Amino acid sequence: MRSIMSISKLFKEKAVVQDPELQFTSSGRLRHLITLRGLNKSQITSLLDQAEQFLSPLGEAAVRSQSLRGRTVANLFCEPSTRTRASFDLAARRMGADVLNLDVNTSSRKKGESILDTLYTLQAMQVDIFVIRDASAGVPAYIARHIDSHVSILNAGEADVSHPTQGLLDLLTIRQRKGGFSKLTVAIVGDIAHSRVARSAVDGLTTMGVGELRLVSPAALAPDPDTVPGCHIMDNLDDGIRNADVVMALRIQRERIGSLDGIPGIDEYFANFGISGERMTHAAAGAIVMHPGPMNRGTEIESALADSPQSAITQQVTNGVAVRMAVLDTVSKTLALQ
Ligand code: CP
Repeated sequence: MRSIMSISKLFKEKAVVQDPELQFTSSGRLRHLITLRGLNKSQITSLLDQAEQFLSPLGEAAVRSQSLRGRTVANLFCEPSTRTRASFDLAARRMGADVLNLDVNTSSRKKGESILDTLYTLQAMQVDIFVIRDASAGVPAYIARHIDSHVSILNAGEADVSHPTQGLLDLLTIRQRKGGFSKLTVAIVGDIAHSRVARSAVDGLTTMGVGELRLVSPAALAPDPDTVPGCHIMDNLDDGIRNADVVMALRIQRERIGSLDGIPGIDEYFANFGISGERMTHAAAGAIVMHPGPMNRGTEIESALADSPQSAITQQVTNGVAVRMAVLDTVSKTLALQ
């Protein structure tokens, strides 16, 4: 169906935000990546294992392949990004794809063209894989339901709903540093309520059988408990960090917070919810600290801690390219069978 969809109609379809089955072909192969929900442990493990193959030590030549040769990947980012956009771009180029980075602010969407018409236009130019970041919930799934069958949609960050490749790179980093998931206590700290990073981490860690998952935040930034079954929701950082093996700090998503009522100012926030070296002494021996970036030093994390050996933050960034190579390779192989 190639109707001209207005953005307002698109929003009415928001009800179908999470539709995990949409991601798979009738034979069960991953064609789109919209959410980590619906991917089982073996599928996630396979993506992580594949990502490991795309890693080489920093300072050495990056791993390259030609598995995306002949493919065209278009990055459509309607929200700011450094890590996700750059890593999808590098990942696609390192596998031999043609890459289009469309500046949405100077595209015809600014003249009122619907997102679907923008995609149909690029699809007609033989784009095979769209990488989409959008501030509205439901956009990647909506597009996936309307795009042609030879095209794949990858969610590069969707409102406060989902950021599946971030979830995968976080899982890979934890697996590398801690060796597995089942014996771990993971504490995710900060603005859980507005965080797509937290939601995808919860989805991925739950599927991988993490030992204990704590979500620590001020009350005003706590999640709806119904949306995070099995997680411990906490509002005291010292309790939340105690004996944790992994502490993941999150940015306060001010761009998604309607009212700042009940949200602490920077100094108060850091005093009560900032992760510091001193606070990490309450965590388990050998605990690591993570942050998805962009990072506000001195607000959610102490600057010295972010740069310390305890920090896995740059490893997360490195893993981001490898994970996106694995995802691009996987969906490209699915498209080849369509
Ligand atoms: N973590 C993350 O999504 O960062 P960017 O916004 O820079 O892509």
